[in-house]
Amino acid sequence: MGTENKVIRCKAAVAWEPGKPLCIEEVEVAPPRAHEVRIKIVASGVCHTDWAYLYECGKGMAPRPFPLVLGHEGAGVVESVGAGVCGFAPGDKVIPLFLPQCKKCERCLSPKTNLCTENWENTQQGVLSDNKSRISCRGQQVHQFIGVSSFSEFTVVPENNVTKIHTDAPLDTVCLLGCGVATGYGAVLNSGKVESGSACAVFGLGAVGLAAVLGCKTAGASRIIGIDLNPDKAEIAKKFGVTEFVNPKDHSRPIQEVLREMTNGGLDYCFECVGNVAVMRAALESSKPAWGTCVIVGWTELEELSLAPIDILLGRTLKGTYFGGWKSVDEVPRLVEDYMNGRLPLDEFVTHTLSLDQINQAFDLLVSGKSIRTVIKM
Ligand code: APR
Ligand code: ZN
Repeated sequence: MGTENKVIRCKAAVAWEPGKPLCIEEVEVAPPRAHEVRIKIVASGVCHTDWAYLYECGKGMAPRPFPLVLGHEGAGVVESVGAGVCGFAPGDKVIPLFLPQCKKCERCLSPKTNLCTENWENTQQGVLSDNKSRISCRGQQVHQFIGVSSFSEFTVVPENNVTKIHTDAPLDTVCLLGCGVATGYGAVLNSGKVESGSACAVFGLGAVGLAAVLGCKTAGASRIIGIDLNPDKAEIAKKFGVTEFVNPKDHSRPIQEVLREMTNGGLDYCFECVGNVAVMRAALESSKPAWGTCVIVGWTELEELSLAPIDILLGRTLKGTYFGGWKSVDEVPRLVEDYMNGRLPLDEFVTHTLSLDQINQAFDLLVSGKSIRTVIKM
């Protein structure tokens, strides 16, 4: 492409400070250093977490360094690679990963978790391994959101934070496997490990929750109860496989009472896909005593979750999941192929397509409940 080893000037959506809309700016993206890959981002989903880090910074979410470029659900093409990179070459189709898989750390070597420790501390602080970002704007460092920053035409990620995918994969849909869809789907299959015939409930029917619904269907659940405050979600959730829809606003009693009554004392599996501690508690209390499992999928950082010990003492399991439990480098390419073979209906999630200039509209669509996923095409 003739840009190798050079700084690339391109467009990015910069978050200058919390609570303010994103600004489209010309940024400079440095060449990749050793063991890094520079990617031309082609498409990026807009996830609730992007919005939350901007608008709930210091409220639900821990404060992060600003300015930063958000976006962590992207797909693109390798532009160039740094020294020592063997697994990638310019032109490869890739998905950048906020959760790496180094295949060397204690956790990567264990089948019990996907939570690789490599680059965790620095990417949480918006920088790469040398404690610097590769993106700057008018001479000022711009942080990389969880190491990715897919709301930029180009970005640089560590080689273990990216995975090569099928050469024919359509980037404007498989980008959703970089976060939301992989997270909800894997929460059911890897973290919940739902068995065939189970009664399941999914709280929150955004992209993450609808992907959990798909997971329940794939696992052979006999009942899939979808719960959402937005009545418009009933129709769409049925297309994804919910067998019943419950809106807490239609009931004067707490939702956990309603669900326990509907299910002979509680559900086998509950998935919280909202990121709200009250909903987390309701999901736990909706699970069946003795063996019910509640998996927390929704993200919140600063609030406290309270529960009655008896709910756990009586045999319920409460657990969390991160990136759906997938070992990212190995398993995301398989999910891409599942989509290409018709086993994972990703297109159903894409309700809107916008350009990078329209990024703030994508946030409006998300928080008003009008979109499932907006895909930004660069
Ligand atoms: N009870 C039930 N549903 C609720 C409630 C509630 N109290 N509050 C909100 N919801 C619904 C919303 O109406 C919406 O349909 O939860 C859904 C959330 O969907 P999105 O905003 O589209 O979010 P999504 O991208 O799916 O992410 C969900 O997972 O990864 C995390 O950070 C992410 O915490 C967020 C969650
Ligand atoms: Zn690792």
